[in-house]
Amino acid sequence: MERRLRMGMVGGGKDAFIGAVHRIAAFMDGKIELVCGAFSIDPDISKESGRELFVAQNRVYPDYKTMIEQEALLPEGERMDFLTIVTPNFLHFEPAKLAMENGFDVVVEKPMTVSLEEALALQEVVQRTGRTLCLTHTYSGYPMVKQAKAMVREGHFGKIRKIVVEYPQGWLSRLSEREGNAGAAWRADPKRSGKSLVMGDIGTHAAHLAEYVSGLRITELCADLTTFVEGRLLDDDGSVLLRFENGAKGVLMASQISAGEENAVRIRIYGEKGGVEWANEDPNNLIVKMLDQPRQLYRTGNAYAAPYTLSSFATHNTRIPAGHPEGLLESFANIYRNFALTVSAKRKGETPSPEALDFPTVDDGVRGMAFIDTVVKNNESNEKWTKFVL
Ligand code: NAI
Repeated sequence: MERRLRMGMVGGGKDAFIGAVHRIAAFMDGKIELVCGAFSIDPDISKESGRELFVAQNRVYPDYKTMIEQEALLPEGERMDFLTIVTPNFLHFEPAKLAMENGFDVVVEKPMTVSLEEALALQEVVQRTGRTLCLTHTYSGYPMVKQAKAMVREGHFGKIRKIVVEYPQGWLSRLSEREGNAGAAWRADPKRSGKSLVMGDIGTHAAHLAEYVSGLRITELCADLTTFVEGRLLDDDGSVLLRFENGAKGVLMASQISAGEENAVRIRIYGEKGGVEWANEDPNNLIVKMLDQPRQLYRTGNAYAAPYTLSSFATHNTRIPAGHPEGLLESFANIYRNFALTVSAKRKGETPSPEALDFPTVDDGVRGMAFIDTVVKNNESNEKWTKFVL
């Protein structure tokens, strides 16, 4: 029988940022319900969060280990189907591994882990258990990002030559980690965040977007990391030159001291015949620039006639008619819906559609951690180019 998937959560309590976004996204299409959680490091906050979310009190657990063990003992008709992990980076690996080894699928935040070793170990667990792991690289869920990817794949722009991806933010322009900002405090702590602050927090989003839209893998890079804010323990700004597998060249900028910026993610890709541009702050627009032609503006949700017809990947991820803005929450919800469609299909022994399978996985998580490692390695060395470690 068709039914909603049952979700458990680690993190995402009243003291958290992104957990609430996950719940909005998970619930948007009516395919998922929240049944249990260990919502906070603080048991009282966890309990209170569970109460506010109408989770049965006996399923608000003191910690994720107890939750996974106890849920695994419940009858099939009751226990959670998957675990969403929205804790600081250093608390992704253990719950993800434990969940999959106990028969649960996983949705986990980026960066997937705090080291490449952990990421590779998680990849092994996915292969061994056959579970589904979804990594929430938010920007890959937008319909116009999927349209850009489809156009690149179909050769609309010819052979790709240049990829420019940017993620500037300004919120760490001051030493916020010492001013009571809990989210900044763990992000700027190497033990809880990983080897790089800026690359772990937002650089992995940019690198994923570049590889996702272009369909090309980074092979080598040359990086320059800086800590601008005095007293900070990790980098807060980075510029990276990229080389891709087909000979394309690229530039990636990730910065958290770009004062005044919000979340100005932008990607531009140029081929022999033309280019494409997408920006998070204007996500329903896709600007197409063809050589010797006026610019074209593709918009989410339109039933354009051929040859401008939007790809099935763009339309599958669009909910409302053109002109009504869809944004980050819908993009996030697309990732959850595709994950839910895939998990449900697998449970019924069916093959998920290519559109349903189009969400970031453990392999993207491994690429992300390899990206951080390679950037840090290159930045610390005197060599100009460092080969991507995978
Ligand atoms: P946060 O600091 O706001 O919240 C962390 C939550 O985890 C809190 O509820 C905290 O109590 C809980 N927690 C910590 N240790 C725990 C434990 N042992 N058991 C249960 N709960 C525990 O952090 P934020 O900003 O929500 O980030 C969480 C993760 O999401 C990070 O990995 C971050 O990189 C990622 N993130 C991703 C975004 C995206 O665009 N995809 C945006 C923001 C964050």
